[in-house]
Amino acid sequence: MADEEIRISIDKLIEIVQAGGKIRTGVDVLNKQGRLILERDVLVADVGPLLRVKKFGVELISIVSGGNGGLWDETGQPVVVKTETVPAPKPAPVSEIDRRIYEIEGLRQAAAEKASLAKKSLRNALRQIQENGGKFDFEPIDDTVRELFDFVSQNETAFSYLTREIFSYDQYLYNHSLNVCVIGTVIMKKFNENFNAMVNNHLNNIPTSISAAAAKAVPQSFKYFQNDELQDISAGFFMHDMGKVLVEKSILNKKGRLSKSEFEVVKAHSTRNGIQILEKNHLINPYLCKISHYHHARLFEDEERCYPAETSPLDIPAYVKVCKLADIFDAMTSKRCYKEALNPVGVVADIFHKYAQKDTLLQFIIHAFVRAVGIYPSGSVVSLINGQLAYVLDSEGPALIAFTDVDGRPLTTKPDIVVLDKKAEEGGLKIDRRKAPMDPVQAHKILPAYLKTS
Ligand SMILES: [Fe+2]
Ligand SMILES: [Fe+2]
Repeated sequence: MADEEIRISIDKLIEIVQAGGKIRTGVDVLNKQGRLILERDVLVADVGPLLRVKKFGVELISIVSGGNGGLWDETGQPVVVKTETVPAPKPAPVSEIDRRIYEIEGLRQAAAEKASLAKKSLRNALRQIQENGGKFDFEPIDDTVRELFDFVSQNETAFSYLTREIFSYDQYLYNHSLNVCVIGTVIMKKFNENFNAMVNNHLNNIPTSISAAAAKAVPQSFKYFQNDELQDISAGFFMHDMGKVLVEKSILNKKGRLSKSEFEVVKAHSTRNGIQILEKNHLINPYLCKISHYHHARLFEDEERCYPAETSPLDIPAYVKVCKLADIFDAMTSKRCYKEALNPVGVVADIFHKYAQKDTLLQFIIHAFVRAVGIYPSGSVVSLINGQLAYVLDSEGPALIAFTDVDGRPLTTKPDIVVLDKKAEEGGLKIDRRKAPMDPVQAHKILPAYLKTS
């Protein structure tokens, strides 16, 4: 008998298996990146593997009968189903502005879902570490980071959709780990782009090939990172503070300055605990280990309160320096129960002034950092110098829609887009840089209905 292929939605399959049925696909199920997520010969009798497939965004699964594939109900009888198609997407909005608002909303919602899954996987891993003497299952963390990596690769502004308003310490650690992972990943991508541009520029401007001496003069940390290395680095960012799970909460939560002995305990999260956990789980990948061990090391010779103290900044790889910057940026711009979030505009300026002039590699990283962080991401709300609040439709320009009058009252008619180019600035329309922009998550709460889709 010829093989017959039916395509069936993952939700329908979950329903069948939940009712006691079984499936065997008869073909390998791959995710969008071509990674195997369900093997053809596996008989699925519980929903776990199907939920995992769903998590990877697969909506329809092919089942090929005639080989060993098939679909059976709880009594073992074959289930007869018709081939399904993916449900039609919501109708696309018509105007260019609506299309952009729709896009921003989609991104905000997708980021919220990814963030929630990522935090859950970290919470599970940290609980396992506490309960199993340091052992945890790395696979869900690896899957999470790969998903985040793909998401960030497609949406470089994704970081601005992350929340920075956290009250409990546990929540802060999950959130901070996620934020450092996403911000750090975008910086690494910009670092690579800059590196590529620099090398191309160099090659285009000198007719002869680079001499051996010149090639040697390029510091080791100046390298282009391949995609699989970037993914490992992202996993390192996500897990950079795992060692904190072995530090007493009362010390981590202390509001005032730490005593000398307390500071020693905190330092151990990176200088000892992180590496111990990685080793216990045989995760000896150098990217994970170096990020965990050195993410509080000095970025320049005289920097204070850094550890391990004996480490020279020259021995710290670029990706570890990126982790430290993402860490500082997130910590300073996050709101905690005992402190307000700082204005990211000022934080970027402070980081720039502290680190940019120290050495070439650091300058290069800071350049990538400033490009990655971007100050006015799409979906955020800024204050204009005349007192109006404006929604950022596009950070290029930036293109804004002012939605209040100069006294902060909602406008009664739907306003037009304003591009804050030189001409607009000369006309007196400017962003008030003294006031912190509201990130897209916060901004969503105050937007008028015409600037959001839900
Ligand atoms: Fe840390
Ligand atoms: Fe950290």
